[in-house]
Amino acid sequence: EKGGWDSFMDKEIHEDPAAVADTLRGRYDVNGDLDLDEVHISPDVFRQIDKIIVIACGTASYAGLVAKYAIEHWVRIPVEVELAHEFRYRDPILTPRTLVVAISQSGETMDTLMALRHAREQGSRVLAICNTRGSSIPRESDAVLYTHAGPEIAVASTKAFVAQIVATYLLGLYLAQVKGTMYRDEIHQMVDSLKAMPPKIQQVLDTQSETVRRTAARMLEARSFLFLGRHVGYPVALEGALKLKEIAYTFTEGFAAGELKHGPIALVEPGEPVVIIVPSSRGRDILHNKVISAIEEVKARGAYTIAVAEEGDPDVGRYADVVFWRPQCPTLLSPLVDVVPLQLFALDMAELKGLDVDKPRNLAKSVTVE
Ligand code: M6R
Repeated sequence: EKGGWDSFMDKEIHEDPAAVADTLRGRYDVNGDLDLDEVHISPDVFRQIDKIIVIACGTASYAGLVAKYAIEHWVRIPVEVELAHEFRYRDPILTPRTLVVAISQSGETMDTLMALRHAREQGSRVLAICNTRGSSIPRESDAVLYTHAGPEIAVASTKAFVAQIVATYLLGLYLAQVKGTMYRDEIHQMVDSLKAMPPKIQQVLDTQSETVRRTAARMLEARSFLFLGRHVGYPVALEGALKLKEIAYTFTEGFAAGELKHGPIALVEPGEPVVIIVPSSRGRDILHNKVISAIEEVKARGAYTIAVAEEGDPDVGRYADVVFWRPQCPTLLSPLVDVVPLQLFALDMAELKGLDVDKPRNLAKSVTVE
């Protein structure tokens, strides 16, 4: 039951920290080495993997996009992310050394199930990342790594998304460990940083909710929103945009910040709300400056700018009308905190509009038809 919360979605967003902690638990040993014996794929087989293809739909596909940045960096093998419904119709290149990763909260998404059947027919191994024990997708896969987010009832996926990111990261770090593409110390440090994330997510919930709500209240008349991000902030922008269209019925578009000048900037007119995911300013990250200039450009055209940025960022305050602050963390882990205010923002917009946040119109929790 809702346990005192106004909606399942509200409850489930507040379970983001637990979803991350529970998905991590038991998957590393006392030294910080990854332990994924439960997957029942031998280290030898993992060592042979030379390509990953993620198949998924909706929010799960955005978790896959986040994973692409981390896994390619850590493991140095290509990671393709493909919408499951597009996958089998284009004759994808699959070999026994390809690992297909099917990500699904429900485990019953027909598009993803059909795609994984196709991959197996072509002789590739399929690993499911799934939140629902005994559902069709893990049953039909060669192996499974469960996310432990607990049951997700609201149609809009929230806690499952952060859990999916964690599961793909565990897989990536494990691959790096067996293939030797990272130093053990680096892996241990990353595991420690992951372990430190639940309290950071909690901090965002505790300190940013009010600002988010106030911002939502000011934006009720907005007819559309643009979301932009770069690097791992790009899939977060897509996810923030999806949340808002799903439950607040607002027209949104999410895109990579670098695309702005290739078209979308034409949409910016005075008052247009633009949500921007800003990378860390530490280490003089070049991406930070580029995203700051994107804010500057939309601001100069009169946009109302809402930034998600790291505490201590010295530049964002100059161009952003509102900032949702995130605690410092490694760049690759920032989606785990950055998505939280965007989940809350969609929830607040829908609630303030008097909409049914748990059961938005026209949508089903799991899409069991192709
Ligand atoms: O159960 P699945 O993870 O396979 O579902 C995939 C999508 O249908 C799902 O993420 C959908 O996009 C959500 N409603 C997003 O909030």
